[in-house]
Amino acid sequence: MTRKKVGILISGRGSNMMALVEASRATDSSYDVALVASDKPAAPGLIWATEHDIATFSHSPKGIPKAEYEAVIDAALRDAGVECIALAGYMRLLSDDFVARWRGRIINIHPSLLPKYKGLDTHARAIEAGDAVAGCSVHIVTEELDGGDVLGQAEVPILPGDTPDTLADRVLAAEHRLYPKVLAHFTTR
Ligand code: GRF
Repeated sequence: MTRKKVGILISGRGSNMMALVEASRATDSSYDVALVASDKPAAPGLIWATEHDIATFSHSPKGIPKAEYEAVIDAALRDAGVECIALAGYMRLLSDDFVARWRGRIINIHPSLLPKYKGLDTHARAIEAGDAVAGCSVHIVTEELDGGDVLGQAEVPILPGDTPDTLADRVLAAEHRLYPKVLAHFTTR
């Protein structure tokens, strides 16, 4: 089976990217990570990717029009032969044009049980609401923020005394288990 070529976009530490790369090293993986790209040239995840023999690319959007920045990222992804994109802590909204060019081929992991808590501060909002469970979702990226079809979810309990930070750690561990599974399925369909 030919492995799909995946591009991963990150902005920071890239722990989900690491989980995706590590899963891709399995002999029966359905995908390879062809490129890790970032809008932040100093993103720690880029160093880890380089140390693990993954091609990296970064370009800062500072001082240039969004369309120009996205054209550079788009070209880097296409030059690397990328067929689908996994967002992993990429803290920049993609333009409608970019989403349209990659329609149905971009996925994202979000730290809530969508459709609950789109956007930021998901853990604080879940605790504040008195929810008993939290979790994460992998979804198709569309023009609507955190609004595309959900491909997979994982739940974790919210425990007495949880703070947004303790809950974030529990959810992150669930993200690292969920994202590789969903990407594996996504790249075989
Ligand atoms: C994760 O919580 C993910 O759900 C959200 O941003 C965070 C990224 O963490 N989209 P990392 O960079 O993958 O460690």
